[in-house]
Amino acid sequence: MSSILYEITKKALFRLDPENAHELALWGLKKADQLGLSFHKYKCVKDPTSVMGLNFRNKVGLAAGLDKNGDFINCLQNLGFGFIELGTVTPKPQAGNPKPRLFRIPESEALINRLGFNNKGVDHLVSKVKISKINSVIGINIGKNKDTPIEDAHQDYEHCMRKVYPLADYIAINISSPNTENLRNLQQRDNLHKLLKHISETRSILQNVHGEFKPIAVKIAPDLDNYQIESIVDAVRTYQLDGIIATNTTVQRPDMQFKNLSETGGLSGGLLTQISTRIIENIANLTQGSIPIIGVGGIVTPQDALDKINAGASLVQIYSGLIYSGPKLIKDSAQVISRAEHRSA
Ligand SMILES: Cc1cc2nc3c(=O)[nH]c(=O)nc-3n(C[C@H](O)[C@H](O)[C@H](O)COP(=O)(O)O)c2cc1C
Repeated sequence: MSSILYEITKKALFRLDPENAHELALWGLKKADQLGLSFHKYKCVKDPTSVMGLNFRNKVGLAAGLDKNGDFINCLQNLGFGFIELGTVTPKPQAGNPKPRLFRIPESEALINRLGFNNKGVDHLVSKVKISKINSVIGINIGKNKDTPIEDAHQDYEHCMRKVYPLADYIAINISSPNTENLRNLQQRDNLHKLLKHISETRSILQNVHGEFKPIAVKIAPDLDNYQIESIVDAVRTYQLDGIIATNTTVQRPDMQFKNLSETGGLSGGLLTQISTRIIENIANLTQGSIPIIGVGGIVTPQDALDKINAGASLVQIYSGLIYSGPKLIKDSAQVISRAEHRSA
């Protein structure tokens, strides 16, 4: 799709409620894919890289949340992503929070969402992955149901791990969505050790059953102080997990007067860029590159993507930027990263 065509489509979509617009855009993309229309296809930038033992076509991926149920895998792969993260899925389907629950802040290319893990459940996602034509790395992001008490959260993660293990290239453990009550408490030291120990033990069992090792990355919030980041890095090391995805959306709000900025939920896009890059820098300094970082949060220009790589990320992911700039941002970001690497090689 040309930039002009995207701008026209965007203008029409932005007249709709944001959640309906997202749905419509994805179904349109899917239809185009099924009809074999080539305008939606983007050349995939070839910048092969190996991270967490996996081979990626390029360093730019789709962040979790856009395809929560695996309903759009084939058409999303054709947009030129190096990898795609599906989910968050939970053991049982759940409706999420009441609508409206997604808001645009166009002045800053930002979004606020309080969706609350609306998803069709892990079994639906598994059935979709099984019938897709996979041609890129697929991560599956898992979480807990709203009605599962935090003390039992490890059982929900185990349930999902068992289901997705044979299908996912990597598994992302989401403990950082701000829209599921208490979920972020899983980032606290004792809870985190209990959870990650259980996840690590479950992986060992599944590795024996399936004869395959699957990397696991932990997705963290941007609203953490240095002490909390150190504690998470320590736990990831202790249980020999494979990566950190930094970051999810923020509950912080800048001192600005934009419409919708006071809505409750997680802020993403242009108002998250600096916050998330600082967290990546912090983790990279602490780990000296020993734990791969997937950098996400506020990539709305190709330079933002490169800044995350320069801060220490091995890969990056995009969500909100895609809504505002369209699929061109994927290719442009992958190209800018690839060129910068070739210059410095
Ligand atoms: C509407 C929406 C839904 C999201 N859903 C999820 C989710 O289900 N699981 C998750 O780990 N992150 C979710 N995220 C967070 C994104 O994956 C990403 O971490 C965050 O938005 C920052 O990236 P961005 O600024 O490029 O959007 C969601 C974000 C948005 C905007």
